[in-house]
Amino acid sequence: MSRILLFGGTGQLGLEFMGMAHDSGHTFFAPNRQLCDIIDQRSVTAVMHEYRPDWVINCAAWTRVDDVEGNPDAAFAINAFGARVVASAAREVGAAVCQVSTDFVFDGSLGRPLTEWDSTNPLSVYGKSKLAGEHEVLGIAERALIVRTAWLFGMQGPNFIRTILQKAFDGGREAGGEQKVAQLSVVSDQYGSPTWTRHLAPVILTLLSRGVWGTYHVVNSGRASWHDVARRAVRAAGLDAEVKAVGTGEYPVRAQRPQFSVLDTAALRLLGEPELPRWEDAVDSYVAQVMAARATATGGGGGIPAWMTGNGGSGAGAVVAKSGGEQGGS
Ligand SMILES: NC(=O)c1ccc[n+]([C@@H]2O[C@H](COP(=O)([O-])OP(=O)(O)OC[C@H]3O[C@@H](n4cnc5c(N)ncnc54)[C@H](OP(=O)(O)O)[C@@H]3O)[C@@H](O)[C@H]2O)c1
Repeated sequence: MSRILLFGGTGQLGLEFMGMAHDSGHTFFAPNRQLCDIIDQRSVTAVMHEYRPDWVINCAAWTRVDDVEGNPDAAFAINAFGARVVASAAREVGAAVCQVSTDFVFDGSLGRPLTEWDSTNPLSVYGKSKLAGEHEVLGIAERALIVRTAWLFGMQGPNFIRTILQKAFDGGREAGGEQKVAQLSVVSDQYGSPTWTRHLAPVILTLLSRGVWGTYHVVNSGRASWHDVARRAVRAAGLDAEVKAVGTGEYPVRAQRPQFSVLDTAALRLLGEPELPRWEDAVDSYVAQVMAARATATGGGGGIPAWMTGNGGSGAGAVVAKSGGEQGGS
């Protein structure tokens, strides 16, 4: 059993860890941002010395890719300097650090799945700040694990799938007694690795338990475009919606995304760990759980409640372009 200090415990991945804490055999401590802001060196050091963890998992980040683009100083403060503060304090107490990172460290120009040994070249402020965070942790922590993941969806957070389901539901609502078919436009020329936090979190704990360090890609298997994900989610939810494929150029957003940032989990394979389930199965299971939670919350009928999208919360959830097209963050 290990003592784990978790930063970002209120985010969608952090909440996944909290949900499995009881059965994991480990003890978790997750101070919220009010108690411990990761850019506040004094409070991070105090928490570290008080809790004396074996492992630190840093899920804290500013993840709203388009907002981040206009605020590089704030982005680097949290995603890079915050990682430095966490790694420095962990070093003082001899704790290992897992820094969660992103496929947005790549430019996605190679057109093939990217291994841990491919060159990084982030296109966005978000990607640059997250890459700087990786370097901080690798340079400071005595034992550093970088886990790059992508296109996350979790039960609690705002994310691309929740936004798509909400839009499909709203767009198909009866108007004047007439049932409409929702019309959605979703970007189809960006490819990545959609990943369920339910499948990701246990692998991070396995890597920490095995005492392996360095950089690992951890994502669900297969590859998908945002359009593929939207179509799969709508079908899994049994919603009647027309999901139109559109090009990135048709819906300009602030931050440039990699065109093809599918992650190859090469290091995980070399370690002999099993591949994660296919993204299609992950989406189906995830949507089934979201719909079941919705049925419970509404007594089997009624509208999708506000928590369905969690709009207004934090997270790298779906980015809704002004003109109505959909593409996500990472
Ligand atoms: N979402 C994705 O698609 C995606 C893809 C690839 C990689 N990642 C990475 O995976 C990790 C988890 O992502 P997520 O989607 O779970 O993120 P999220 O839902 O946006 O949650 C971010 C968390 O960070 C906390 N936080 C932000 N600034 C902080 C600060 N200064 N001090 C302390 N805590 C702070 C937030 O606290 P509050 O609740 O108080 O705001 C929240 O708990 C991040 O490192 C992200 O970069 C995400």
